[in-house]
Amino acid sequence: MNKIVEILPDKAALIQRSLALVISKIQTAVQERGMCTIALSGGSTPKPLYEALAGQDLPWRSLQVFWGDERYVPSDHPDSNEGMARKAWLDQVKIPKFNIHPVPTDEATPALAAYKYEEELRQMFQANLGDFPALDIILLGMGDDGHTASLFPHTEALEVGDRLIAVGNKNGEPRITFTAPLINHARCVIFVVAGESKRPALAQVFATEADDLAYPSRLIQPQGELWWLLDQAAGEELAQADPTNPVKTE
Ligand code: 6PG
Repeated sequence: MNKIVEILPDKAALIQRSLALVISKIQTAVQERGMCTIALSGGSTPKPLYEALAGQDLPWRSLQVFWGDERYVPSDHPDSNEGMARKAWLDQVKIPKFNIHPVPTDEATPALAAYKYEEELRQMFQANLGDFPALDIILLGMGDDGHTASLFPHTEALEVGDRLIAVGNKNGEPRITFTAPLINHARCVIFVVAGESKRPALAQVFATEADDLAYPSRLIQPQGELWWLLDQAAGEELAQADPTNPVKTE
């Protein structure tokens, strides 16, 4: 694993840096493999990044878009990660509609939605049971509790090691989520994290010793590249924490 941590002075700089990195990874994937597979994160942090991507001139027809997690709601629901990304970005650019692969949250149960999404990924990547496809880019956020995607502390989804997609659980609210092993097979994982409220969890995630099940972002140790892009408000203490593990500050 190649882990890079960058701390940007403020949220605007964080979004601009995230944009530059995502553009670079999309272009590299398309140059090397003729396509780019990207999984989007939800929540509030990535919205300005998606809005910035909408203004770019990229090989949209070569992009295949997935979601690393989704709430079990229709796409027109205000909590929908799909709905947020479509409004902010995907509806504004010429990505062929069949290149966009939302979680089928209209299935009768969260478990069926997870099963169907797994089937769709297996078909897309020609991945048999037991195989884990390597997406080119997986974007992630991190909650104040250290969760990522919908891998919440001390939930069953953290233990799923043989599936691509699991049912997450946020205080009883069902989610559909990439599993840790699927995320860890990505070529490039990019965390985009902003705000002072993330500091306590970041300290635990970056600590040498801490409970992975209490801070699930610790489980993300991809065989490819791992980028942590933080704003100063979130990453302040990390910059001082470990002089042996240089953190690049802009
Ligand atoms: C979701 C996300 C989740 C998010 C974190 C951070 O569906 O909510 O995928 O993992 O990235 O909760 O959310 P914020 O960016 O809003 O802080």
